[in-house]
Amino acid sequence: MDNRPIGFFDSGLGGLTCVPYLMEALPRERIVYFGDTARTPYGSKAISTIRSFSFEISDFLVENDVKMIVIACNTVSSVCLEDLRKRRPSIPILGIISPAAHATAKLCGPKNRIGIIGTKATIHSNAYRDKILGYNKELDISQVACPALVPLIEEGIIEHEIMDLSIRHYLDQFIEYNGIDTLVLGCTHYPLIRRNIQRLYPGLRIVDPSRELLRSIHDALERHDMFAETARAENTFYASDLSESFVNMIRRIFESANPDIVFKTVSTDALRGRRGGGSDGN
Ligand code: DGL
Repeated sequence: MDNRPIGFFDSGLGGLTCVPYLMEALPRERIVYFGDTARTPYGSKAISTIRSFSFEISDFLVENDVKMIVIACNTVSSVCLEDLRKRRPSIPILGIISPAAHATAKLCGPKNRIGIIGTKATIHSNAYRDKILGYNKELDISQVACPALVPLIEEGIIEHEIMDLSIRHYLDQFIEYNGIDTLVLGCTHYPLIRRNIQRLYPGLRIVDPSRELLRSIHDALERHDMFAETARAENTFYASDLSESFVNMIRRIFESANPDIVFKTVSTDALRGRRGGGSDGN
């Protein structure tokens, strides 16, 4: 039993798409979420930059006494999950790629044509492709990076023709040329445009990694005997820039769940000031 919160982080508001699944399935758990809204997007940045931002945030979450860290970001999970685990060996750290790759491999056979979409960093890492092929090497996988989608989503430009045009710019040819029938939303921001994608390509089967992550959180809590026992208290949402769209998006996502929410800002200077707390001293 462990009543401390679960720490979640993402480059911005994308990781929020994982949270309602957790709240619904494990209502006693509470969370501390960090969205690095001042420095988003991560997906087109150098790996060394993504790693250093992630170290700062994981140190911050550990200082906030979280019992577990969930990397609600495909980009971070694909480029530095192992680095984060080495830096903080005493705390369970979960990535999003493995559970989603596992679910995709279970769902598909050699006749399916799997498409992975994500940020440049995620796609260039081949993390999804390698993991899925590790489960079943017969599977047919194509990938494409869609770097313009995250900034539009962070701006709240979603139910808008600019978003539809951007999606079509990346996906029309990709889906047709590769005959894609199953699409993995390899960025936690993309569930927020799932409706647009489904409307534009109605026959497509969509895999949502934000949902698949729930099972591995559940398993890790069980394995480490960390389920919360008391009723949930407040959930805290930190952002490095508490923008209107971040706050609005949280309100929109949690509209029906109506959890107790506290918003706080932590500047990137304050985050940087925390550096050096990791076990390997990096
Ligand atoms: N939501 C993140 C992901 O899952 C990061 C997007 C970005 O910052 O580029 O990859």
